[in-house]
Amino acid sequence: MCGIVGYAGHRDALPRLASGLSNLEYRGYDSAGVALREGDDVTVYKTVGEVSELRASLPESSEATVGIGHTRWSTHGEPTDTNAHPHTDCTGDVAVVHNGIIDNYDALKEDLEATGHTFASQTDTEVVPHLVEDELADGASAKEAFAAVVERLEGSFALAMVVGDSEEIFLARQDSPLCVGHGDDETFVGSDVTAFLEYAREVTYLENGDVAVVTPDGVTVEHDGEPVERGVEQIEWEADAAEKGGYDHYMLKEIHEQPQALRQTLSGRVDEMQGTVDLDLELPEEYLRSLEEIQIVACGTSYHAGLYAAKLLEEHADVRVTVHVASEYEFKGGRDPWRTLVVAVTQSGETAETLGALRDAARTGARTLAVTNTVGSSVTRTADETLYIRAGPEIGVAATKTFVSQVATLALFAVHVGRQRDALSATEASEILGDVRGLPGAVQQALDADAGVRAVAEEYADSEAFFFIGRRLGHPVALEGALKLKEISYDHAEGFPAGELKHGPLALVTDQTPVLAVLTEGARPDATLNSVKEAESRGAPVIGCHSAGHGEKFIDAAFDIPDLGEMEPLVANVYMQLFAYHVANLKGRAIDKPRNLAKSVTVE
Ligand code: G6P
Repeated sequence: MCGIVGYAGHRDALPRLASGLSNLEYRGYDSAGVALREGDDVTVYKTVGEVSELRASLPESSEATVGIGHTRWSTHGEPTDTNAHPHTDCTGDVAVVHNGIIDNYDALKEDLEATGHTFASQTDTEVVPHLVEDELADGASAKEAFAAVVERLEGSFALAMVVGDSEEIFLARQDSPLCVGHGDDETFVGSDVTAFLEYAREVTYLENGDVAVVTPDGVTVEHDGEPVERGVEQIEWEADAAEKGGYDHYMLKEIHEQPQALRQTLSGRVDEMQGTVDLDLELPEEYLRSLEEIQIVACGTSYHAGLYAAKLLEEHADVRVTVHVASEYEFKGGRDPWRTLVVAVTQSGETAETLGALRDAARTGARTLAVTNTVGSSVTRTADETLYIRAGPEIGVAATKTFVSQVATLALFAVHVGRQRDALSATEASEILGDVRGLPGAVQQALDADAGVRAVAEEYADSEAFFFIGRRLGHPVALEGALKLKEISYDHAEGFPAGELKHGPLALVTDQTPVLAVLTEGARPDATLNSVKEAESRGAPVIGCHSAGHGEKFIDAAFDIPDLGEMEPLVANVYMQLFAYHVANLKGRAIDKPRNLAKSVTVE
């Protein structure tokens, strides 16, 4: 989920690419670069850091009228000058920028190195220019070479390429957005329209499987080798709305990005048929087999993801798991601390308390693993190993898409550990993996029902307080649902294990306190229904997030969840995010930057 920009025209490409990159930087990136085609040469400028740093290193102007640029959010390889895009082949005549992940890059890279190609970076992207180089050497045209290489790639990608002896830009799209802007005798490329909005307001959106060629006159698109027409749309948005993809807030955009974030999280990691996962971890099998305990440390939303994951790990990996709020953590690893794996879950990778907890554990001799969204963050340098959740940048202070990607990543980890410890058969693992793979579609169904959630939010927005209840996997979701609502609406919201309602909180329940309940598989819905009835009989409206057959008869408002086994509560969470969003929006709150809160808390 990086940013791509491109220009093919008759004017100086450099200032247009530079301003496109600045426009894309709103999401916060770690490095940037451009490739300019001048004469028959390709010149690359790139640097780690912000776009402003790149711009400071660029010449004032150039002769180039064709070029591409990129802002990077790292997935493979740390943010460094050499890992920044564009990437080039051995001759330096082919330059490529890429968003997404190329799943089979390892194998491709091995083959390329065996035939003498030298790689400069640790990225997956760099295989592309080297593959193109080989095709060109075999006599293919740039277009043929590019199309042939795209055929060989697995994964998700938006690619843009320039080559020395062509005035065209070559594009390919698979599960990662890419569009073309039509200006006045000039054509632009963008991962979204903000890349060129100030120059072009007519846009062609590429579709999955498209390969396209951009010239100053426009774009020609092929699909399965056949020419296709993709049409031109008029962009009505102003720049601010465009940055948010047309949504009113980043938070809402990020809620809607969850299917795509999940696809990226899972990409290339799951073999459902075999019941195996590939997380590229070095934790040896004998270590996992001898493991006595996993301790998860985290704060805020990440803590809730940890609670969810703990239940999956205990169930499927047959290992004791404890979950700790990082600020309350004290490492106790017993006589053999190495047999305790301490897992830090942190979106930013910079939360001071989580880092402190991890350092304490490492000092005492535990093995450590970071689960984070941020390549190169402090936690990745502190932990022995890192597992990335690959959700893409999150701007809204209230975490949304990163929660579901954290849980999905940890679900894969639970399957991995379970298989290594012989706690899980291949058939059982396949079933769990099938549910995890069903998440993007199920989350999309919940998102499609947003109008219904908004109507319920309108009905109950002015309530005195909100209670969220759930059991087992529904419990962390109840906590997360309440956290979201209180963070952005400033309303009183509390999450409880459903069974605890009667041990105190019930005293607060009135007809002015809606109760949101998780009534799904994995969340002991029948038992939760008892708590629902207790609340209803005190007059409380009940809003149920339920899968088939669980509780629709008893509740005032119901949100449907498709069958998805232990992943169902995560879909309930999406409804709760939307509910929180609409309640806060109706009250006119500062949703993306709620009062007193920060996205990344780097002090204790
Ligand atoms: C802050 C944010 C929360 C986040 C928590 C942990 O409080 O406002 O949204 O869940 O930090 O952040 P981390 O980056 O460690 O996941």
